[in-house]
Amino acid sequence: MESVRKVEISTSGKVIESPCGPIIHGLEDVLIKVTSISDIDGRKGILWYRGYRIDDLAKYSNFEETAYLVLYGKLPTRSELSEFSEKLASNRDLPEEIYSIIRVLAENKVHPMLVLESAVSALAGFDPKAGDLSKEALYDQAIRLTAVLPTIIAAHYRFSRGLGVIKPKKDLSHAANFLYMMFGSTPDEVSTRAIDLYLVLHIDHEVPASTFATHVAISTWTDLYSAIVAGIAALKGPLHGGANEAAMKQYLEIGSPSNARPYVEKLLAEGKRLMGVGHRVYKTYDPRARIYKDLVRELSEKKGNMTYYQIAEEVEKVVLEKLAPKNLYPNIDFWSGIAMYLLGIPYEYYTPIFAMSRVVGWSAHAIEYLNEHRLFRPRACYIGPHDVQYVPIDQRK
Ligand code: CMC
Repeated sequence: MESVRKVEISTSGKVIESPCGPIIHGLEDVLIKVTSISDIDGRKGILWYRGYRIDDLAKYSNFEETAYLVLYGKLPTRSELSEFSEKLASNRDLPEEIYSIIRVLAENKVHPMLVLESAVSALAGFDPKAGDLSKEALYDQAIRLTAVLPTIIAAHYRFSRGLGVIKPKKDLSHAANFLYMMFGSTPDEVSTRAIDLYLVLHIDHEVPASTFATHVAISTWTDLYSAIVAGIAALKGPLHGGANEAAMKQYLEIGSPSNARPYVEKLLAEGKRLMGVGHRVYKTYDPRARIYKDLVRELSEKKGNMTYYQIAEEVEKVVLEKLAPKNLYPNIDFWSGIAMYLLGIPYEYYTPIFAMSRVVGWSAHAIEYLNEHRLFRPRACYIGPHDVQYVPIDQRK
């Protein structure tokens, strides 16, 4: 029950010399606050939420319970959990105006991540307490946002295919209800588990770019909806949320297990990157990847399609042989795209599903940061000229 673990600051932090002094590019390894939400040991490959190992939460918990843990800092009692699950379920539906916004955007082929940003933004207008930064209001909003993200994503899926929206069901779990709203039938156990486990594994991850963006926004005392929009916007980029899709496309291109080794060897010889491999913090096998790999095997067996699991296993052999000596190992995205693919979820929804989980971590961090609040306001080293003479427009050459 060790409480403080020294963060390993790598010496590879990109420091750039400037006329004003050193610049830590990308704030690599810069500490921005103290936190008790999550911790990562990148050398040993351990992830903790509120002190609990991800392996235990993956094995014994589910999304609702882990979300409660991350938000409130303790595992819920039976009655706390049922109250929390009930609150989530009763907040799932959206105002009709928001469904209309999603429909217009989806019919016009706007990407679901952009629609997520727009819908969350617009939702603030329907909350009379949107700008209230009291603990009570923030927790209510965190629950509402967590509850509605799956509804927004599923509505986008339905509208963009010319299908009618399926309203959420209160008696299904968060994961099962999401698949139900997407595809219209109650999912089987392993499919529900595939989404539930994915959500548990993505709830928080210390301060990657999206969580940092949330901090920057909330540090201005903006509303939580806007801070979550900042998180979604940063998650959208391919360097953050998009790698599982890229990894899955790689497996489709490889096509068969026997083609995996020549494909990877050629790609590496050309100096290209293998998607789903490497991590800024993990210098060993990503613990989330280790856990999700087993689920992907089980799901592949149940769906009667082992091809992509077997391709990934062959790719993994080459990675462990050729890239592990450079501290490059499979990350969660190496395996998660296969599960999404087997569930019949189109690529453009992979990152929104990531957001569906991370909204919990973003909210928990925003609430935590407001306790020790300080406005983020870094400086830049100006290297342009000063006191340039203003020239009227007709005298300019
Ligand atoms: N395949 C091949 N070589 C790689 C890879 C890869 N996926 N990733 C890094 N390298 C090499 C890179 O070429 C460089 O080699 P050298 O020193 O010879 O020039 C060395 O490793 C260090 O690379 P870096 O870009 O400085 O490392 P980083 O810590 O900035 O990169 C990363 C982290 C995740 C951006 C990178 O590993 C990458 O692009 N991976 C592929 C994309 C991916 O899977 N992203 C998902 C990350 S996990 C999601 C999450 O936690 O939210």
